Amino acid sequence: MNSPMQLTHTGPIKIAVIHGPNLNMLGIRDPDIYGKEDFDSLNKRLKDYATAHGMEVKISQSNSEGGIIDMIQGSLTWAEAYIINAGAYTHYSYAIRDALADTRLPVVEVHLSNIHAREEFRHKSVIAPVASGQIAGFGTHSYILALDAVKNVVNESRR
Ligand code: DQA
Repeated sequence: MNSPMQLTHTGPIKIAVIHGPNLNMLGIRDPDIYGKEDFDSLNKRLKDYATAHGMEVKISQSNSEGGIIDMIQGSLTWAEAYIINAGAYTHYSYAIRDALADTRLPVVEVHLSNIHAREEFRHKSVIAPVASGQIAGFGTHSYILALDAVKNVVNESRR
């Protein structure tokens, strides 16, 4: 069986965008921290931005750890890279970290809030060590920045 790294990709960069627990509540959930934009509006903006900039996104969301792992594994035959906001699992899910590492594909970790400026338990990310980088603190715009970052990483590896 081919490993993901052996797949040859051309055309739009294929990115799996994975939202973790409670992110479906965007716009309703603590708007002072997470902003007023709702989940559907964010996802539409991501799709539009991706299409306009040579990318294609598949967006999914799960409130459970196993659900997130299934989505990571389920995108393996399609995706060239991952953008993930694992929500609170960021801080302690070694299972999600392992699933991401096992893909051997670029990962950009995203957070709406600046997790380093919040409660201490949020300062640690167990995903960061297996990610190309982390973007945090720019509200929903963090995801747009993540699309730019991931595009750059994938373009480098396509050369
Ligand atoms: C979050 C930060 C996490 O600490 C929190 O549990 C979330 C959202 C963010 O996007 O800022 O659910 O990942």
